[in-house]
Amino acid sequence: MKIETLLTEAEIAAEFADALEARDLPDKFFYWSPFSVRAWQKLARNGATESGRQAWAALLDSAPDLASRFDGDIALVSLGAGEGTKDLPLAQALAAAGAQIEYFPVDASQILLEAACVAAEQVDIETLGIKADISSPAHLVLAADASELPKLYLVAGNTMGGQDPHVLARQLRETLREGDWALVDAEVYSEAALAERETDLGRAFAGAPLHSYGVQPEDGEVHFELKRDERTEGLYLLARYFHAAGDLRVTSPERDVLLQRGERVSLNFSYIYTPAAFRKVLRSAGLKVAAETRSADGRCVIALCSR
Ligand SMILES: C[S@@+](CC[C@H](N)C(=O)[O-])C[C@H]1O[C@@H](n2cnc3c(N)ncnc32)[C@H](O)[C@@H]1O
Repeated sequence: MKIETLLTEAEIAAEFADALEARDLPDKFFYWSPFSVRAWQKLARNGATESGRQAWAALLDSAPDLASRFDGDIALVSLGAGEGTKDLPLAQALAAAGAQIEYFPVDASQILLEAACVAAEQVDIETLGIKADISSPAHLVLAADASELPKLYLVAGNTMGGQDPHVLARQLRETLREGDWALVDAEVYSEAALAERETDLGRAFAGAPLHSYGVQPEDGEVHFELKRDERTEGLYLLARYFHAAGDLRVTSPERDVLLQRGERVSLNFSYIYTPAAFRKVLRSAGLKVAAETRSADGRCVIALCSR
């Protein structure tokens, strides 16, 4: 397995302690510790990612059309690749349609990146994992430089919604070159979205980074909130917070961080969109939307974009 490291474990550990001091934990820390990864896998395997699975499965039918947009060779660069579960069936379908595929999963999670590389090697796809921060413009440039081939970027599993989508869409637009394409998915807004998150598995996933480092379930509560994002009509933010029930010591790998009773820590969030708001976010970033694929249940949409 080959992995190029732009973001080291020591850097993530230092960033985690800093983020905890700032009471604001971004998405990448929710897939970092083995405990967090297990919580994510349980959530994903219990239906939380079913709409995305349906939409990416439906997209496989258009693999010949996608392949025809390239001249034979494609570098498949997956931003926030996770275990590569959506990427690899697409890579195989593109290969079956005659394309030569090189696969570049990009992720901050060493555990998930290794899993993606192993899974790709098992199906004989040439792979280089890139351990990087997709919110860093410099890392995106370096990831894009990993191959000279025309690129198909994948941003799957509402990964764009785990960052500020306006910012990530603009960075993606900056990264795309003439002849490159991107497939970006989004969770479609539904009134049920908040209640679907407020489950035992949803709370366990949200609390896992803190529970990995000494916080016990009785030490505080995870709360969920759904808010409108006033910047764009139809854009919603599903936020998660941890409320400390008492004074706590989080024994993070870098240093201990103290939380006082009643303090609130912002956990990772998910942006969700009406289909019109999703298009607006992409277009206002300068991306052109050439086609869309929806899941059978209508809860996930994938946009095919170019610059
Ligand atoms: C919701 S999961 C989606 C995984 C995969 N694309 C899928 O659809 O199954 C989000 C992924 O993005 C990664 N991620 C989140 N923030 C990141 C960041 N700032 N830099 C790199 N990876 C990040 C996580 O480690 C995780 O693997």
